[in-house]
Amino acid sequence: MRKVKVRLGTNSYDIHIGSGLLTQTGHQLKENGFVNKLVIITNPTVKGLYGDALKQNLITEGFKVTILQVPEGEEQKSLDAAGSLYGELTDFYAERITPILALGGGVIGDLAGFVAATYLRGVPLIQIPTTLLAQVDSSIGGKVAVNHGQLKNKIGAFYQPRLVISDISTLTTLPTKVLIDGLAEVIKSAVIGDKDFFAFLEKNLNKVKSLNVEVLEEVVSQSAKIKAEIVEKDETDLGLRSILNYGHTVGHAIESTSNFKVQHGEAVAIGMLAEASISNKLGILNKDELIRLKSVIKRAELPTQMPNLEVENIIQAIEHDKKVLRGKIRFVLPQSIGSVFITDEVSLSLVEEALIGEDEAT
Ligand SMILES: NC(=O)c1ccc[n+]([C@@H]2O[C@H](COP(=O)([O-])OP(=O)(O)OC[C@H]3O[C@@H](n4cnc5c(N)ncnc54)[C@H](O)[C@@H]3O)[C@@H](O)[C@H]2O)c1
Ligand SMILES: [Zn+2]
Repeated sequence: MRKVKVRLGTNSYDIHIGSGLLTQTGHQLKENGFVNKLVIITNPTVKGLYGDALKQNLITEGFKVTILQVPEGEEQKSLDAAGSLYGELTDFYAERITPILALGGGVIGDLAGFVAATYLRGVPLIQIPTTLLAQVDSSIGGKVAVNHGQLKNKIGAFYQPRLVISDISTLTTLPTKVLIDGLAEVIKSAVIGDKDFFAFLEKNLNKVKSLNVEVLEEVVSQSAKIKAEIVEKDETDLGLRSILNYGHTVGHAIESTSNFKVQHGEAVAIGMLAEASISNKLGILNKDELIRLKSVIKRAELPTQMPNLEVENIIQAIEHDKKVLRGKIRFVLPQSIGSVFITDEVSLSLVEEALIGEDEAT
């Protein structure tokens, strides 16, 4: 098992990464001082695959366990779903010391995290992420939220978990589509934070795709370390943490322009390429590195070509964000593979050029 520490003073915690950790959870929780009862929040898919085994382990270790289920889907990240969970927690006589275990992908992590942050003004949260995206991104850093109307993640808190348990073997049941979303965030981590890790990905991408457990353990550990280091420097997202948005300025615009038909990882992949291309056009990122990035994205089976959307509409969506951000669009651009910089000096015509001219540039 590997450990990554997130050092946030009194909010510090460990991330445990390894294969088969799920069935050692009871022991880990006792080591962290938890006793008596606890609540698992999950969904039917994940419950069927892992929830019952986790419950059995916890019961064997002497815990009183309740599993609460929410249906599948992003729409469950809602105040309504949180409201139902508060009711069920009350029925179970959950107390301030009763931990909530969030077992699932980012949807469960964000919703259960939001509930843990607010129920009785905060109960202990244990993240047990089971998707690649959740293991490398959403379970780390304490952003918990629900959506409100069309506004994503608008009602939330910074609420750090007490422990993150990333069992790599759970990734072997992921549908390819879900794995791919996580892979985009993994590539993002390497580009913003670690050129050696990028080289590791170049070498081992086929093993990642074939779900080789040792390689996945390395990938999750490295990505978690990069995110942890960024979060440590900017817990509440006042500055540096925005570098995690590399690929997301253009990516979010593509997602919304496509009415969310283009999935998150695919949109981020195109966003990363477009933003790298902007940097190249500004004379900063060299062409070899742009080509290396494109090749990794392609080998990850993420798209490198713009989907069939009007560039004009994507630009409009970016402009809409600009209004939200009081006139300036902040881009996170790669300087070289492994390091990024933030600028608000990118003109929309350059963005347009990058979106249209992607193929010519590489
Ligand atoms: N809090 C943060 O910092 C942060 C960061 C990034 C993304 N997010 C949020 O994360 C969410 C997306 O998370 P996601 O990509 O994990 O999607 P998800 O939670 O919807 O999971 C994807 C699908 O995989 C299934 N699944 C989960 N684990 C599985 C397993 N081991 N085997 C088979 N199937 C499994 C789920 O049931 C679901 O159908 C979004 O709501 C996004 O806003 C939050
Ligand atoms: Zn993302």
